[in-house]
Order: sequence, then C-alpha cells, then structure tokens
Amino acid sequence: MSKPLKVALLGCGVVGSQVVRLLTEQADDLAARVGAPLELAGVAVRRMGRKRDVPVPDELLTTDAHALVTRDDVDIVVEVIGGIEPARALILAAMAGGKSVVSANKALLAEDGATLHAANRADLYFEAAVAGAIPLIRPLRESMAGDRVHRVLGIVNGTTNYILDKMDSTGASFADALEEAQSLGYAEADPTADVEGFDAAAKAAILAGIAFHTRVTAADVHREGITEISASDVASAKAMGYVIKLLAICARSEDGRSVGVRVHPAMIPRSHPLAGVREAYNAVFVEAESAGRLMFYGAGAGGAPTASAVLGDLVAVGRNRLAGTRGPSESVYADLAVHPVGETVTRYHVSLDVADKPGVLATVADVFSRHDVSIQTVRQEGRGDDAQLVLVTHRASDAALSATVEDLRDLDIVRAVAGVMRVEGDETP
Ligand code: HSE
Repeated sequence: MSKPLKVALLGCGVVGSQVVRLLTEQADDLAARVGAPLELAGVAVRRMGRKRDVPVPDELLTTDAHALVTRDDVDIVVEVIGGIEPARALILAAMAGGKSVVSANKALLAEDGATLHAANRADLYFEAAVAGAIPLIRPLRESMAGDRVHRVLGIVNGTTNYILDKMDSTGASFADALEEAQSLGYAEADPTADVEGFDAAAKAAILAGIAFHTRVTAADVHREGITEISASDVASAKAMGYVIKLLAICARSEDGRSVGVRVHPAMIPRSHPLAGVREAYNAVFVEAESAGRLMFYGAGAGGAPTASAVLGDLVAVGRNRLAGTRGPSESVYADLAVHPVGETVTRYHVSLDVADKPGVLATVADVFSRHDVSIQTVRQEGRGDDAQLVLVTHRASDAALSATVEDLRDLDIVRAVAGVMRVEGDETP
C-alpha cells in the first residue's frame, strides 16, 4: 500500500457532506481499490460552526479555500461548490500546483471548460457534473471513443421532469406543480436555473462537446424552459398519446459536418422509453454508428447519488496518480460547427384558435404549403367561437416552421396561435 493520497474538499453541502461520509465509511475499500488510502486533508466551507448533514472534525474545516488547494501535501482537489467564481480561480490554483481535480460544476465546465482543460497538468474528471449518479461522461469519453456518435437525447434535469410528471399525472398547473416540487425539496427557492433550462443546457453543452469531439459552450445551446407549459398543453398532448418532457438533444447534422445542441420542451409518444421516466429521474439515449442505441437511466441529482459519481472519479484519479499517468484529456479535434436552431429539422404540434367556418382549413393549409411544411394530421376541437385546429407536421426546419407561424398570426381567421411544440422520438426506439 502506498502512502495516503491527500484530498481537499471544496464545499460541504448536500453533495460534499456525502463525499465526506463515503470517504469515511468506505475508507478500507477505497484504499484497496486505489492502492493507497484517500485521506481528507481539509474541507473548505463558507461559514464555520454551521450544522452539517455529516459531522466533520473541526480541525479539517477551513474558510480559506485558496490556502487549502495550494497546500503542498494535497494531491487531489474535489470541487462541489458550484458556480463560476470562486470555483474557477480555486481549480486553476490547484492545477497550477499539479493537483488532480474532480469537479461536479456543470455551469463552469459549460461556460469555460476550455480554460480549465488548458490549465490542467494532471487529471480533470467531472462525471458528477452531468446527470448525478448516471455514468455518462466516462462511457462517452472512454467506452465509446472508438465509435461515431450521431445523437445524444435525454432528460437531464430532475426538477423539471418532476414538475412535468406531476402536471401530466394530476392535471396540475405549472405553478402548483412547482410549489409541490419546492415543498418536497426537488426545486430550489429560486428555481430559475432548472425551470428556464439553464442547468440542462450546461449539461447538453458538456455532453455534446465530448460526444462530437468539438468545443461546445452553454452559449451555443438553444434553450427554452418549461414555464410557459400550461395544463391545457399537457392535456392536449395526452389526448394525442404524447407526454411533454424537457429534452436535451445533441445531434450531428445529416451531412455530418455540424452539430445542433438544444434544450426545450417536446412532445414524445407515450410508447417511447423516455416517457416512462417519472418523477425526478434522468435518462439519456446515446445513438452511435456501431453501438446502436444505448440508454442510461437513474438518479440525476441528490447528495448520495452525486457523491457516488464523485467517488468513482476520486478512485480513478487516485489510481492515475499512483501509476504516474493521466486519464483522457479534452478531445476537440473534430472542431465541428454548431449550427443555429433554425437549421434543426423536426416535427411540430401547432394549435390554432380559429373561426369555425368554410375555407378556414384550406387557408391554414395553404400557409403551411407555402413554406413547404407538410401536414401529417389535423383535427378540430370545439366549434363556433371556441374552435381549435390542432395540426401535427412532418419533419420541417425550425426556420420554415417559424415563418409559417408568423404568417398564421397575420390571418384574420386565426384568433391566436395557442401553442407550438416540437414532437420528438417518433422514430422507432
Ligand atoms: N437541479 C438539477 C436537477 C440537479 O434538478 O436535475 C443538479 O444539476
């Protein structure tokens, strides 16, 4: 057994406290797996004297994170504080001292991963940054390094999945479902990062970058949240055999020369495996040329599940340090263009409040036809002043569909464009 590897932990909240617990409870197993004990050298916290989920010996706690990460005896820094600063400065200071870094920080990796990768002199592992306990980074970086990924599609935010699942199963409004998610601790007091899709967009950027060997940042991701989804959108989807999910979709274009990365609510058929992902669970499909379609499913958030991913990374970087080697570094050689959302091709569900009189359907159909958007199904709900036309299109570009909707809004016979939503997952799973 080699001498202990010293671990500095930045942050002791929901995830950090579980990292402390596992390092303590599983110390013997971890030492045997790494080949050296993993010894906690210190835990940087914002405030001393706070009650913690897991007791941490006072002598390990410090509010001076910079002094901790630059200590000569520290080998590995685990960052679970989140946010851009001071996390970035602390990680860069650790890297300058040759430490290995394990991070769960999706926002930082998606905004400025390039700076971290460039500064890295040992290992930078971040399995916990995307979908909590679910192994996705390592399978994409390592297991699938010999394959050609075409698409990554999935549910990568548990909070929004919980809210949409409640809306679907109980008919609740967005506001009521959000309140329930907050009271159960699934959603934060300020839910913006989750419900506006920022969290999922950061994860999509990280996944796309690895899957397509291309640098993708959060700013490259087309993002729409779920705050505008109404109980009637959910009911209308249900009536047609669909369920609404917030999806992250990273896809190679048909000519293979660019990628599209987007996060938005979409209708998927109830028969699709992602429709069965309930409550706060996450699930991701990876579609690759030789592997075919793979599905990853599990707990995408929470202290212990996320700590499981952190511990897996700790073992990996510990082994690498002992062997005097490094894990895979950033791979961006393909350098594909990230195309704008207008070039995305998919199907759409469009509901229109219309006058119920002869010629209305023909006029509406003519607008679709002028933009070369082909209609697959159409049905009418209600009558008289309450009529609604619900159309589902064949695959069309986002730009063509947007132009269609703009022209529909100008028609006298269309009182309102009540809803436009993408339809995904209709291809046989
Ligand atoms: N808030 C995230 C979620 C977990 O709801 O999935 C951390 O990324």
